[in-house]
Amino acid sequence: MGYLLGIDIGTSGTKTCLFRYDGELVTSAYAEYPMLQPQVGWAEQHPEDWWNATKQTIQMIFKQAKIKASSIRGIGLSGQMHGLVLVDRNGTVLRPAIIWCDQRTGQQVEWMRDSIGTEKIIELTSNTPLPNYTATKLLWVRDNEPTIYEKIHKVLLPKDYIRYKLTQEFATEVSDASGTLLLDVASRKWSSKMVTLLGIENDWLPEVRESNQISGTVSKLAEIETGLAEGTAVVGGAGDQAAGAVGNGIVHAGVISATIGTSGVVFASTDEIKKDSLGRLHSFCHAVPGKWHVMGVTQAAGGSLQWFRNHFGLSEMEHAKSLQKDVYDIFSEKAMDVKPGSEGLVFLPYLMGERTPHLDSYAKGTFIGITTRHGKEHFIRSIMEGVAFSLKDCLSLIDDLKIPNTEIRLSGGGAKSLVWRQIFADVFNQKIHRIHANEGPAFGAALLAGVGTNIYSSVEEACSQTVKYYDAVEPTQEFVERYEDYYTIYKELYFNLYETFSSLHKLAVK
Ligand code: XUL
Repeated sequence: MGYLLGIDIGTSGTKTCLFRYDGELVTSAYAEYPMLQPQVGWAEQHPEDWWNATKQTIQMIFKQAKIKASSIRGIGLSGQMHGLVLVDRNGTVLRPAIIWCDQRTGQQVEWMRDSIGTEKIIELTSNTPLPNYTATKLLWVRDNEPTIYEKIHKVLLPKDYIRYKLTQEFATEVSDASGTLLLDVASRKWSSKMVTLLGIENDWLPEVRESNQISGTVSKLAEIETGLAEGTAVVGGAGDQAAGAVGNGIVHAGVISATIGTSGVVFASTDEIKKDSLGRLHSFCHAVPGKWHVMGVTQAAGGSLQWFRNHFGLSEMEHAKSLQKDVYDIFSEKAMDVKPGSEGLVFLPYLMGERTPHLDSYAKGTFIGITTRHGKEHFIRSIMEGVAFSLKDCLSLIDDLKIPNTEIRLSGGGAKSLVWRQIFADVFNQKIHRIHANEGPAFGAALLAGVGTNIYSSVEEACSQTVKYYDAVEPTQEFVERYEDYYTIYKELYFNLYETFSSLHKLAVK
């Protein structure tokens, strides 16, 4: 019997999953690590923590599944996108990784807009400069840490650092490379023009291939450190969103996914490049050769509920522990007891600034409409509703590009909650399907490994053989109408508050 391994380097932790070729999960393992926030709007992680979590979860897989390492046919990598990992000539990490949700690079974004011009950047890369892109983080290091900048040998994305640790190869693939703002997304190659305009070195960028291609094999050293067999193929894999889309079968135009992970994403596959003229949607290479995708991103989706849990959910966490339940199940039960609309309490999920549709790193999280009637359960429900409104903003921009929408599949940790799924069905006014696999990106990465090692003949075939979705939630007409009214207010709130957000930001970083 042969297996495929998917490893997803997430923001909260690394998830490693072992699958059979028919897509059935054999076992999975998860290890968490912290996110460091040394200043307001900053977000960093230690690449060494990712590697330790990778080693630990692989070892756990072997303990749990009791399989021979040589029976793993291929390994696929997936991970949080956009993060900047800098290594020197010896492969040593030069500073903590500046990760996707870090918002410190406002000045570098302005420099790019002023010195190169947004139109030119869109022409070269298909995307508009934003603080999340790797290139802006690299310029921040140029401007603020010159002694580190001069030691750079390679610029890597998070999962590609793990690839290096597994294979000793510096390589990436088109879907994740699209999120650097250095890739010519239309031709699926690094943009040497963009690289030159930014004054960076071509050599710093690893080789870029299609997502289903083999990028190297497990080294002797990695065999010793992980228990994997030397020589096992490591396939390109994909950024977490494209990998998650493969895992959800979003590989043809028409089926759209909405994902509630730390971030929230609405994702549509396209047969040619489609661009929002204001750059509010990302236009990236899909992990399927010859296909692209658009996506809208809410910076803090599940991340908003996680923030609330960490600071205001201590008693629920203790209660959950005593019942051996997931605290988010307790949150969902509380939210279920509140009427749709949370009795006038509205939440804007801009805890880490916002990407789609506002492209505003100074936007702030907001609760508005609080009264003495509101208790914790209302706050929980209004967070779920605010995240759904924010993803509706993303979906509306996709609709504006006339991309077909025949079906929506919800995934990510948040999709486990029935009440959240019902909120999505009511806010989107559309039937919402839920995907069989909770492993999302790790599953997609494993399928890509299966394509690269010839278990499946194409990504589309891998999906049609393995992806299953099970239940569907229908919208409730009464609540659809109520949510339309709330959504109108939700949309107005940002425009009423954006100057206040910017003033607050200036005060907060003083
Ligand atoms: C996508 C994005 C996030 C991160 C973390 O553009 O920033 O999805 O990849 O999940």
